[in-house]
Amino acid sequence: MYPQRRMRRLRKRTLQPLFCETVLHLTDLVAPLFIDETASGKIPIGSMPGQYRYPPGEIALHVQSLYTAGIRAVLIFGIPAKKDEEASESYARSGVVQNAVRSIKGLVPGMTVITDVCACEYTSHGHCGVLHHGRCGTDLDNDASLLLMNRIAVSHAEAGADIVAPSCMLDGMVHSIRTALDESGYQDIALMSYSTKFASALYGPFREAADSGFSFGDRSTYQMDPANAREAFLESQLDAKEGADILMVKPAGNYLDVLSTICTIGLPVAAYQVSGEYSQVKAAAERGWINEKAVALETLTCIKRAGADLIITYFALDAARWLSEKPEGHP
Ligand code: PBG
Ligand code: ZN
Repeated sequence: MYPQRRMRRLRKRTLQPLFCETVLHLTDLVAPLFIDETASGKIPIGSMPGQYRYPPGEIALHVQSLYTAGIRAVLIFGIPAKKDEEASESYARSGVVQNAVRSIKGLVPGMTVITDVCACEYTSHGHCGVLHHGRCGTDLDNDASLLLMNRIAVSHAEAGADIVAPSCMLDGMVHSIRTALDESGYQDIALMSYSTKFASALYGPFREAADSGFSFGDRSTYQMDPANAREAFLESQLDAKEGADILMVKPAGNYLDVLSTICTIGLPVAAYQVSGEYSQVKAAAERGWINEKAVALETLTCIKRAGADLIITYFALDAARWLSEKPEGHP
C-alpha cells in the first residue's frame, strides 16, 4: 500500500486532536478517600505518596476542594476507632463512614458519594465478613456475611450515600443488598458492584492506607484468580442479573482484556486503578525514571479506551489539575 497509504498524513501536529479517539473527562474520575475516626489531623499514607487519611472534621472541606477542581464523585473508606469479630462498627448509625457521608452531603450536596460496603476495615481478623470455623479450616461464612452487608448498605443509604459499592466478593451479594435496600425504601439508591475483583498483590499499599490487612490466610477463597478470564465475565454477568446498576473490574491496568469483554454486558462499567498501580508510578517518578504526569495520563486514557465509563483512581485530583493545564506549545 505504501506509498499511497501514508498514515503520517493525519499525524501532523495540528491535525492530531481532530482524530483523537479517546478523551479523558473529569466526570470519568472517582476519587477514593480514607477517613480515620481516630485522626486529629491529616495523616500521610507512607505507601501512597500524596494520599492521606483524613480526620472526620476535615473530610467535607477536602471534598469541597475536589469539587472545586472539577471532580464529581468520591468513594469513601472508613477506618473505625475499634474493631471486633463481627464488624459491629461497620453499620453503626454514627459510624465513621455514616458520619462522613452526612458531613460531605451537608457541605457539598452536588458531589456524588459512593460508599465501599465491606467489613475488612472493621473486623479484628481483617477479613471481608464474618468467619465460619468449619471442617476445611476457617473461612468467610458467605450467607451470614450477606446479612452484615445488608445492614452496612442500608446504614450508608440512610446516611445519604448516592451509590453503595459492595466489595466483599460474596456470592449473592448484589441480590441480597438490592432486596434489603428496596425493603427499607431505598429503591432509588444505585448499586455499583465490585463484580469482578481479582485477588491481586496490587492491593498491598491499600492495606496500610485502610488498615485492612488480614491476620491469617489470604482473600483467594472469595476474590478471583488473576489467571481466569471466562470466570471473570461470569462474575460480572451474574451481578448484572442480580440487579447491579454498575459493574466493576479491579484492578484496572492488568485486566483491560477482561474490562472490554465485560463492557459487552451492556451496563456501565467502572475500572478501579488500585493502590499498587498508583504507587508503582509514584515510586518510579520519585526516582526520576518516568514522567509521572505523562505515565499517569497514559494509564487513565488507556483504561478509558478499553471501555471504562468510570475510573476510580488516586490520581483524580492530580488529573484534574493536569487536564486543566494548557497543552504544551499553546498560548
Ligand atoms: C476491601 C477493599 C480493598 C480494596 C478496595 N476495597 C482491599 C482488598 O480487597 O484487599 C483495594 C483498593 C486498592 O488497592 O486501592 N474489600
Ligand atoms: Zn473487604
